[in-house]
Amino acid sequence: MNESVVLKNLNIKAGEKHLVRELSLNIQEGEIFGLVGESGSGKTLTAKSIINVLPEGLSYTAGEMRIAGRDILKIPKNEKRIHIGKNAGYIPQNTVFYLHPMIKIKNQIADGYMYHMKKSKREALIRASAFLERVGFDNPKNILNFYPWQLSGGMRQRVNIAMALMNDPKVIIADEPTTALDSTVQRQVMELFKEINEELSISILLISHDLGLVRHYSRGLAVMYAGKVVESGRTEEIFKNPKHPYTQLLMKIIPSLKMRKNEPLAEIPGYVQDEERDAEGCLFIKRCPHATDVCAKFAKEHNSDGHYYRCNLE
Ligand SMILES: Nc1ncnc2c1ncn2[C@@H]1O[C@H](COP(=O)(O)OP(=O)(O)OP(=O)(O)O)[C@@H](O)[C@H]1O
Ligand SMILES: [Mg+2]
Repeated sequence: MNESVVLKNLNIKAGEKHLVRELSLNIQEGEIFGLVGESGSGKTLTAKSIINVLPEGLSYTAGEMRIAGRDILKIPKNEKRIHIGKNAGYIPQNTVFYLHPMIKIKNQIADGYMYHMKKSKREALIRASAFLERVGFDNPKNILNFYPWQLSGGMRQRVNIAMALMNDPKVIIADEPTTALDSTVQRQVMELFKEINEELSISILLISHDLGLVRHYSRGLAVMYAGKVVESGRTEEIFKNPKHPYTQLLMKIIPSLKMRKNEPLAEIPGYVQDEERDAEGCLFIKRCPHATDVCAKFAKEHNSDGHYYRCNLE
């Protein structure tokens, strides 16, 4: 099977300090892949490195970063931007604030398509109407003339999804796409992602605090802790046989699991530290019920049949 995104050994740094370390991911064509972890674990920075919009002062290196079949580390800068723009749709975190509230939808939804696909505004708006209809608006032409402030959170998220679809992407990276929505709307938006995934065969990197949601929607899954993937594989397999103590603890606290923004999980004492990400040992050591002396020095990597985890427990 082909992959729509492959990351190998991604390291993101602020100066000399690691924020994300040795991260590898494989997102298969046409699958929903969940990336979960507490606040500060590095989910957003990982997404931003894929689409090449890391904040100033941060940099990344990787062994490979393949999007829709091409390693973007190996293509010229201007081509890289176009390749990413065409193939990866992005729905950033806090999308409620993403669309400019005072600029009409029609003046925001079309730009990327006109730029990347070299199309006229008229062509872009015809396409935008079709996608607005696809994401559930009965009156797409009216929506184009609305200002974002006139729309509810769920409606704005539908507009963002339509916008992400404009360039016919192979993958959509959705960073906490339902966090700001109430639970009924959350479900509707997730069902829409599922339809898009199934009907248009677009892969989705679903970034979420919510392991319950990821369990329901994703086929593959990676759990991040303090900048590293501690466990990854097929969602079903991980839920059947979680290996890393952090994953096990996260699972225990579902369904109460609605990880709060910027708050450590009360159920797992301790917090995701920003410091010490350069340490060679396991970063979960201070919160782990099974930690031993050896965990301060290194964490063993295991990989069998695509089920990966990084822990000294067998
Ligand atoms: N511009 C920056 N400069 C320095 N450090 C940063 C910067 N942006 C993020 N960080 C640090 O990198 C780490 C990972 O941040 P990131 O935003 O990727 O976390 P996240 O997993 O998306 O968290 P959340 O669930 O809160 O969105 C955090 O510890 C954060 O403090
Ligand atoms: Mg984030």
